[in-house]
Amino acid sequence: MPKLGLGTWQNTDAETCAESVAHALDLGYRNVDTAQAYDNEEYVGEGIAAANVDREEVFLATKVWISNLAHDDVLASTDESLDKLGVDAVDLLYVHWPAGEYDAEETLPAFDELYDAGKIARVGVSNFEPRHLDAARELLDAPLFANQVEMHPLLQQDELVDYAQEHDLTLVAYSPLARGKVFEVDELTEIAEKHGVSEAQVSLAWLMGKENVVAIPKASSDAHIEDNFDALDLELDDEDVAKIESIDREQRQVDPDFAPW
Ligand SMILES: NC(=O)c1ccc[n+]([C@@H]2O[C@H](COP(=O)([O-])OP(=O)(O)OC[C@H]3O[C@@H](n4cnc5c(N)ncnc54)[C@H](OP(=O)(O)O)[C@@H]3O)[C@@H](O)[C@H]2O)c1
Repeated sequence: MPKLGLGTWQNTDAETCAESVAHALDLGYRNVDTAQAYDNEEYVGEGIAAANVDREEVFLATKVWISNLAHDDVLASTDESLDKLGVDAVDLLYVHWPAGEYDAEETLPAFDELYDAGKIARVGVSNFEPRHLDAARELLDAPLFANQVEMHPLLQQDELVDYAQEHDLTLVAYSPLARGKVFEVDELTEIAEKHGVSEAQVSLAWLMGKENVVAIPKASSDAHIEDNFDALDLELDDEDVAKIESIDREQRQVDPDFAPW
């Protein structure tokens, strides 16, 4: 899975969404993240079709919403997602949250069926804690490929990083800019000024520098899409990393009532 992806939550204007996806792909992004709940799968699909990049080169992921996690609803809603995205298969399909209709023994066999049918190339979960990951790995026939969770310098997720490295899962860092909070942290501004880059790039480079970690910043403007892409060229030194590690506040930006923690 490419180390940097484009997030699309709240990118719901048809034209803006399709253009941002196409611009990102033309620039060099090869990883796009959407979800049934984002109400934009159709526009993401349009962006992929409009870009000068073959479908096979793009790592495309979507997620099944919590009201669609009963066995038959997983199958039917995934068919709808593929239809909206305009693709035969996605590269990764996630359980969006272990909540709502999620029942590991009912939900996960449906993911195995989709995997066996070739409609999804990989199985993922999102917002799973170690106990949910243990249960899912036990129940699934397909390998569990990824866990997508909130992660950034203010929420460093050490336990889930260790788990991912130990069990060879990809940890996909969502809200990697802490939904804008990274711009308000003095230590990150100091590192950004030292390298002549943005705080966004510092956060992304720190995340992408970790083994098994991928980052999916959301950006809808061309300038933000380009700024984030440049993080691939930023190398932080040990002093920068130590400074970032000293600022963990275990501060979440995404914390709905149905969260499992
Ligand atoms: N699995 C889950 O439950 C879950 C939950 C949350 C998010 N996600 C995924 O993760 C993605 C990213 O998370 P997020 O959208 O919550 O937040 P984020 O990526 O941390 O932050 C996005 C915000 O930062 C701005 N931004 C982006 N790049 C910037 C830059 N270089 N300089 C200044 N501002 C910049 C964006 O503005 P513009 O849009 O104006 O460019 C947007 O307002 C989502 O889009 C979604 O795909 C998944």
